[in-house]
Amino acid sequence: MSPLSVLHASQLITLSGPKRPRVGTELSTLGIIHNGGMLIRDGKIERVGPSDEIEKNVGDAEVVDAGGRVVMPGFVDAHTHLVFAGNRLDDFERRARGETYEQIAKAGGGIWSTVVKTRAASELDLLAQAKKHANWFLRCGTTTVEAKSGYGLTVEDELKILRVMRQLKKEAPLEIVPTFLGGHAVARELSPDEYLDVVVTEMLPRVSAEKLAEFCDVFCERGYFNIDQSRKILSAAKKLGLSLRGHVDQLTNSGGAKLMAEMGATTADHLEQTDEQGIAALKKASVQPVLLPGSVYALGSSRYPRAREMIEAGLAVVLATDFNPGSSPTPSMPMVLSLACTQMKMLPAEAITASTVNAAYSVRRGDRIGSLEPGKLANLVIFDCEDYRELAYWFGIPQTHSVYVRGECVSRSGGL
Ligand code: NIG
Ligand code: FE
Repeated sequence: MSPLSVLHASQLITLSGPKRPRVGTELSTLGIIHNGGMLIRDGKIERVGPSDEIEKNVGDAEVVDAGGRVVMPGFVDAHTHLVFAGNRLDDFERRARGETYEQIAKAGGGIWSTVVKTRAASELDLLAQAKKHANWFLRCGTTTVEAKSGYGLTVEDELKILRVMRQLKKEAPLEIVPTFLGGHAVARELSPDEYLDVVVTEMLPRVSAEKLAEFCDVFCERGYFNIDQSRKILSAAKKLGLSLRGHVDQLTNSGGAKLMAEMGATTADHLEQTDEQGIAALKKASVQPVLLPGSVYALGSSRYPRAREMIEAGLAVVLATDFNPGSSPTPSMPMVLSLACTQMKMLPAEAITASTVNAAYSVRRGDRIGSLEPGKLANLVIFDCEDYRELAYWFGIPQTHSVYVRGECVSRSGGL
């Protein structure tokens, strides 16, 4: 692969800074280089600086002229449900008629309806649909996603989903961080206790033996898994060496944030209902909050997580899409940035940090991705705008110009 040089970015958003997740005012420090450029060799960033300096060192590198556009690290989407079959158009229409997420789930829609379709799908069918999703992510400027299982709920179907992720990783340029979410809902053919036993004694040991996941997650919520049941799953996963994430305090405040702190989890996700005590517990245990405003928006709710309080408390906030067919059918991180700024009062710069470098740390890859610094992978996006704030400001219009993973162009937008 020949070296590559990217020149003339109106703003090169480097996110250079301390080698740890950013907190407080660090969240709004983007390390911008005006008329910036970079040199890439063997898929990694070799040099970053003003364009005229980089130009002097171009040598035989292929030159990409960013033409006065914004260049920034690819988004890292730290919470997605990438692999599933079908869609949930009926749920969507029912919500438009006024039914709630929980009512629809009870009436035969919800997670279970996707489980039925996903069980019936072959590995090849799931892979084909997952590839389509992967392309959507790339087109939105996302180069790494965390992806959860959770629509199988039998040993074989959960493993099937995780294998699809493994295969997708080989066939698509999107980088994937796999998470086991057997504790997404109770399989209807078993009692809650029986299912919990299957997750702990059958699924988790297989997932760990086949090294199919790096993280274990659980949906800790009324009607899904309570605090005790969630603790059992997470403790078993921890013993097997998996790191932990959790869907907590989404619809009700059940003390889920505190549980994630107690378990020493890497992240606590959702947190729409989390109060000051929950925030304090996360801070004490250095758990990163992953906020998912797309799901609040798509469920037609108005209760967004308390992002400002979390930032003020010193938490290393992360933003993610929660891409899934039910509560958040969007792969678009720019849409999430828009929601973060308009609904949660995050500054555009804070939102960018939360969806790049902080997200990278939350998937344990902060040393390799999330910023444009020498030594990191050359995962970057050229956006068709001059100022990074435009990413959150214009909404509903794709601004991606081109996307690079490990120095290779993997997506280019059309246009006149
Ligand atoms: O993150 N909360 C649980 N899981 C997903 C929803 C999944 C679904 O509805 O299919 C979420 O919102
Ligand atoms: Fe989710």
